[in-house]
Amino acid sequence: MSDELVFADEQPNDQRTEQKPWKVLIVDDDDEVHTITTLALRNFHFDGRPLHFLHAFSAAEGIEQVRQHPDLALCLLDVVMETEHAGLDMVEVIRDQLRNSFMRIVLRTGQPGQAPEETIIADYDINDYKEKTELTRGKMHTLLYSCLRSYRDILALERNRQGLERILDASTQLQQHTFIQDFAHGILEQISAILSPDEDALYALCEGVAAHEQFGRLTVVAGTGQYIQQIGRPVADLLPDTAQDFIKSQHTGFRAQQLDGGYLCLYRSSEMHLSVLFLRGLITRNAMERHLLEVFCQNALTAFENLALRTELEDSQREVVYLLGDAVEHRSRETGQHLRRVAEISFLLAQKAGLPKAEARLIREAAPLHDLGKIAIPDAILNKPGPLDPDEWTVMQSHAQRGYDLLSHTDKPILKMGALIAREHHERWDGKGYPTGLAGEAISLGGRITALADVFDALSSKRCYKDAWSLDHVRALFEKERGQHFDPALVDILLADFDEFADIKRRYPDPD
Ligand code: C2E
Ligand code: SIN
Ligand code: SIN
Ligand code: SIN
Ligand code: FE
Ligand code: FE
Repeated sequence: MSDELVFADEQPNDQRTEQKPWKVLIVDDDDEVHTITTLALRNFHFDGRPLHFLHAFSAAEGIEQVRQHPDLALCLLDVVMETEHAGLDMVEVIRDQLRNSFMRIVLRTGQPGQAPEETIIADYDINDYKEKTELTRGKMHTLLYSCLRSYRDILALERNRQGLERILDASTQLQQHTFIQDFAHGILEQISAILSPDEDALYALCEGVAAHEQFGRLTVVAGTGQYIQQIGRPVADLLPDTAQDFIKSQHTGFRAQQLDGGYLCLYRSSEMHLSVLFLRGLITRNAMERHLLEVFCQNALTAFENLALRTELEDSQREVVYLLGDAVEHRSRETGQHLRRVAEISFLLAQKAGLPKAEARLIREAAPLHDLGKIAIPDAILNKPGPLDPDEWTVMQSHAQRGYDLLSHTDKPILKMGALIAREHHERWDGKGYPTGLAGEAISLGGRITALADVFDALSSKRCYKDAWSLDHVRALFEKERGQHFDPALVDILLADFDEFADIKRRYPDPD
């Protein structure tokens, strides 16, 4: 499977000709601010998409606009309007009542002394705070780039999460089919459900055919659209010529290819059984869709083949979980292997603590999600080279709860465990951790295990704000924090086989 990043930067949508604008709402009681802002941002584009401005002249009007346009990317918000703090009140309505956490909000004030920047950023869920003197073209452009980039990344993350859920749903449904025809038909139906069912008439029209080797012949077992009547025929008759070579190759495992006429993928088991899926006219538009499709088709064909079903399915699911986590690593410029190591260290700890294999596995799958909430932390804090000041620290600590919020609306075991770990990985055995101050066994075992694994790896690695510690130094910290920061039983396990844990660091080294 490809390891293309889902967050492929500035990649234009392959297909779309007319680009949807980014919606930007200006809320200000001063006409002139509206005029200057739109002027300064004339002809501004981000990711090939222009801006579309909406205007409101009071907080009340602004709230109405947000209600009507849930897809607003950014709100430039005045503080003092109908009241001294109308803008701040509006932030609370947006985040708490309208439950819009995706839109970026930048407060702009004419009286900087009134509301001190540090406390405002810490107390209200906003993304930046500017003085109105900062309305120059250059400053506005910088601001818009950083806000739209972070909005785009958050949306991509959200779509990814939804995509993952759809894959898990679809995979579960597929496993319930018993007859091979139903099963293949189910695959074809699920594909249109997976690829953005909301906006894409394109995919609703997707026609596909599934074929399976029977008695030495590759035969159609299910079809939709023009292929409905083709069951039992040799599939070779139905595919474009460009597909033939691809199918003839003896390569085992999963392969996928975008052809002119559509999307083709196949799975050849080690016993040389072959399953093929062809989706006529389907062209993926970006790396994310390609990846979702690939993951799903691999799952589907693997199940179809019914060989080594279990491991393959888990591998693909793990892949998607890492992709989510990677999005954060990518932003925080933490070293790429941190997530793998935290997962493996957690797995080893869980096994040595005597957890059943299935639970230990679940913790391993979910551990890469522990810092997912960092996606919502502003760059200036996340990548600050030095120590954080108290307000920045408050914002940084919110990553635990935010990770939970992003993952908690689900019944999928991996994501549920991920949500729990995100919330609890900074709790301490002595109750002095965050966000809740849980103590001892009130912290779930998954939370206690990943807490150790995360710190073990963070200490022994270089970060933007610190150098790597020596292993002796790391060991000394765990001895000191046994029963304070960390579960004493787990520390004993770590110290007893310290070299084995340190070895994980050697197996997944950071690139230079
Ligand atoms: P992280 O870098 O992944 O670190 C995870 C945890 O490892 C930290 O959780 C802390 O328990 C431990 N750790 C990391 N470095 C040190 C260290 O030098 N000394 C000690 N005693 N422990 C260390 P914590 O403290 O809750 O921090 C959470 C996250 O906040 C960190 O994740 C990092 O992203 C950020 N952060 C913490 N301190 C700073 C800082 O001084 N500057 C910046 N820019 N970010 C920081
Ligand atoms: C990315 O996630 O696309 C790179 C980081 C950024 O653009 O903020
Ligand atoms: C944010 O509030 O910064 C957006 C991320 C989230 O959904 O919590
Ligand atoms: C266990 O007690 O299950 C293992 C170590 C601990 O978490 O206390
Ligand atoms: Fe963390
Ligand atoms: Fe971490």
